[in-house]
Amino acid sequence: MRTALYPGSFDPPTRGHEDLARRALAMCDRLIVAVAINPNKEPLFSVEERLRLLQASLGDDPRITFASFAGLLADFAREREARLVVRGLRAVSDFEYEFQMALMNRRLNPDLETVFLVPAVDLTYLSSSLVREAARFGGNLDGLVHPEVAAALAARFGR
Ligand code: PNS
Repeated sequence: MRTALYPGSFDPPTRGHEDLARRALAMCDRLIVAVAINPNKEPLFSVEERLRLLQASLGDDPRITFASFAGLLADFAREREARLVVRGLRAVSDFEYEFQMALMNRRLNPDLETVFLVPAVDLTYLSSSLVREAARFGGNLDGLVHPEVAAALAARFGR
């Protein structure tokens, strides 16, 4: 049984995250989508809300489960017996940070390999921060987030 981890902030989950998670299933038997608890960030949605939105977006596939973790990804991977981390690369600008993180994670957990997947081309510009910004000012998010996510954003911004 090959278990992969797909970690992130998912604040909120986008169609880009969904696309990546479904692509990752080609490389594993079980995918754990893991929301990182970052005490230095003030997220728009609580961890519980993000898990609910991920469940709404990806819960139709029994191979995908959801979790949150505090602390190091390298330790969480060990705890869940996962040896593969999946991250998305949208543009060259993502590369430097992702490269450093992959090497640091391997240093912290030598059993852990990171693989990078490229999202569908029409989603390459998409990010949670752009989605939050567009939602804040009432932008149309059709096709960019799951309808449950769109509803949660509308509620959060009082629309
Ligand atoms: O969606 P994001 O914000 O780009 O995800 C980044 C995330 C959560 C994957 C990364 O910050 C992370 O793994 N945080 C947990 C702490 C950790 O292990 N950091 C990397 C090695 S120091």
